[in-house]
Amino acid sequence: MKTILITGGAGFIGSHVVRLFVNKYPNYKIVNLDKLTYAGNLANLSDVEDKPNYEFVKADIVDSGKILSLFREYRFDGVIHLAAESHVDRSIANPTEFVFTNVIGTVNLLNAALDVWKGNTEEKLFYHISTDEVYGSLGKEGMFTESTKYDPHSPYSASKASSDHFVRAYCDTFGLPTLVSNCSNNYGSFQFPEKLIPLFINNIRYNKALPVYGKGENIRDWLWVEDHARAIDVIFHQGKVGETYNIGGHNEWTNIDLIQLMCKILDRRLGRKEGASAELITYVKDRAGHDLRYAIDSSKLQKELGWVPSLQFEEGLEKTIDWYLENESWMLNVTSGDYQLYYEEQYQKR
Ligand code: NAD
Ligand code: DAU
Repeated sequence: MKTILITGGAGFIGSHVVRLFVNKYPNYKIVNLDKLTYAGNLANLSDVEDKPNYEFVKADIVDSGKILSLFREYRFDGVIHLAAESHVDRSIANPTEFVFTNVIGTVNLLNAALDVWKGNTEEKLFYHISTDEVYGSLGKEGMFTESTKYDPHSPYSASKASSDHFVRAYCDTFGLPTLVSNCSNNYGSFQFPEKLIPLFINNIRYNKALPVYGKGENIRDWLWVEDHARAIDVIFHQGKVGETYNIGGHNEWTNIDLIQLMCKILDRRLGRKEGASAELITYVKDRAGHDLRYAIDSSKLQKELGWVPSLQFEEGLEKTIDWYLENESWMLNVTSGDYQLYYEEQYQKR
């Protein structure tokens, strides 16, 4: 039986990856290691928590001693590393936290893997999950490929870029078997409502202003989170050590077009007259260093490993909106307490 460590499994994408692996691979023992920050929520995994091949460990990847002792105890065969501080706006408010978790936390995991795998790296893999934001910002034309030069602009993307470099450096310098994938914006169930789609669904539902940064002309390339989890499965099992794979759905939207579409769907779902939700749109001060456009070329992954996205965006967005409407208690639970404070600090001054 293989023992696979998934870090950040109580977060948005991590919970989908844990669910997929626990259900699909009964012969793997899946260990979910998570600090349970504001973004981590064990309720995201209530449907798998009693499965015999699942175990949760609460730990901070910044704590090098704890991480090393866990690696020595569990002798993990593979690592899928998702734990991170993930929100750009929070990285602007508090960059240092992003260096600790995203850079130092990643190096601690690499050191621990090196310690327990030394001399025997056969069948071992350290798979690091990263983002398209490390490539910087595109103009109107072009797409990010795996050879696009890194050009991060936010403290978040700078910390992710740094962690990607460390992962590749441990492969080149120490022969640690590593892999990296860089994915575009994810959407779907269990996403913390600080990110555009769940935040706006919730605000529309409760008739709160929709704070659109700048003119709403920035472009993001949206991928359904379960398609990302499937890509991670394919890359973990079939990807070539030392390689990088871009993951994305060829699905670019300006923020304002996406917001208008959400308003339209929610008008129908909430029985409002057409155009009512769009009246909540409020243009606010732009995000500092706001990247204009992201677009991922995922042809390498599609051609070499046969992965393709499964869902059309409109269908995925409707499913996502329905999930948040049907899971009001999940939303109320994550928006109680500190969330209100964050919301006021983030949006009142804009
Ligand atoms: P998230 O913020 O929803 O979840 C992050 C998880 O990491 C949480 O469960 C949190 O408790 C945990 N965590 C944070 N600091 C930790 C620490 N010090 N020790 C242990 N656990 C810690 O993030 P997400 O959106 O699910 O993103 C997961 C990964 O995917 C991140 O590495 C992110 O950079 C990457 N990514 C995200 C997107 C996206 O659109 N959300 C796209 C591409 C790549
Ligand atoms: O591209 C992948 C990245 O996507 C991931 O690496 C990050 O972890 C993830 O958070 C996401 O980053 P973005 O900054 O693109 O996502 P966010 O949902 O914060 O914002 C999406 C767009 O919407 C962006 O152009 C900013 C804008 N926006 C966002 C918020 C929260 C607004 O206009 N208003 C808002 O209130």
